[in-house]
Amino acid sequence: MFILGLQGSPRKNGNTDVMLRTFMEKAGQAGAATHTIQVAKAGVAACKGCGYCESHGRCVITDDPMATEIFGLIRKADLVVAASPVYFYGISAQLKGLIDRCQTFWSRKYVYKLKDPLAATRQGILFSVAASRGRQLFDGIHLTAKYFFDAIDARFEHALTYRGVESKGAIREHEKLEADIDALIEKTVRPMLSRKQILFVSPQGACRAPLAAALAQAQHGDQVCTGFAGLTPASALSPTMIQAIEARGMDLGYRKPVGMDQTLSGTPPDLIVVMDKTIPDNLVPGVKTKHWPLSAPDADDHAAMERLIGEVETHIETLITQHGQRK
Ligand SMILES: Cc1cc2nc3c(=O)[nH]c(=O)nc-3n(C[C@H](O)[C@H](O)[C@H](O)COP(=O)(O)O)c2cc1C
Repeated sequence: MFILGLQGSPRKNGNTDVMLRTFMEKAGQAGAATHTIQVAKAGVAACKGCGYCESHGRCVITDDPMATEIFGLIRKADLVVAASPVYFYGISAQLKGLIDRCQTFWSRKYVYKLKDPLAATRQGILFSVAASRGRQLFDGIHLTAKYFFDAIDARFEHALTYRGVESKGAIREHEKLEADIDALIEKTVRPMLSRKQILFVSPQGACRAPLAAALAQAQHGDQVCTGFAGLTPASALSPTMIQAIEARGMDLGYRKPVGMDQTLSGTPPDLIVVMDKTIPDNLVPGVKTKHWPLSAPDADDHAAMERLIGEVETHIETLITQHGQRK
């Protein structure tokens, strides 16, 4: 299970930073893999409002960290935490800039009608802090978070907000912070970790493994949490596979092949499914391995891709019957 944190305050060791770090450390101890983006330092370019994502399904900006890294991390995340101080009754400019770039996800969802395989299970959490105590203090931030999480297909049910916290790091003294975060971990992270964690591995992580991970996640995400990896990752997913997946209304846009080292952090998976007979059994010592020796179709062989999808779906049904039940 992977958690992405978006730290939206420019103040290092400030209140937002402390809140998010506390949550991520506790989530890591519970067994999740975590990654935090310090948004103010990331150099995310602002949305141009050019409409390219609506006409092409992808953001026109391709050379900033949003394009090269953060879009992919959002897609991979089972849980996204958006954290921001209140600035003029709204979200910080830094985090808002990142959120605006997610218009590409809005376009893929509402214009292209594509559904993220994690749509049924991804969660979004809001953390915020403010100096004053006004009744409507967090209303603006809540609304932005609601529409951001909708665009990235994350269910938004939990927020931690604190009033009357102003000086740098003062949140550490807040009597409820630790207990609130512990309770949040129990409500969000623990149930997600109780699903069977399955890692699909193919030689390049470009076709069979991401395909199986997406299908299993979309169809059985209440029971399994899937990841994929390649032993020698290719530079991009197979376009033929993406076309077949999109024809089924599913979205693998912005996902990339990754190596075993990038996918295995947090607790090891419960099961590894290797999808090529050249891959050895003992990829991760002590983790049970299953073999699905399926052939990868040649590029542009759409008929073979359809056959592969059918085979993968049959394997997934058997796998869920045998392994899908909660631990
Ligand atoms: C530009 C700016 C605007 C702010 N606007 C508000 C505001 O509208 N309401 C409020 O209660 N606090 C406001 N604050 C105070 C911060 O929300 C508060 O100090 C918070 O604890 C800062 O969190 P941080 O340490 O994570 O940066 C503002 C602070 C700054 C720098």
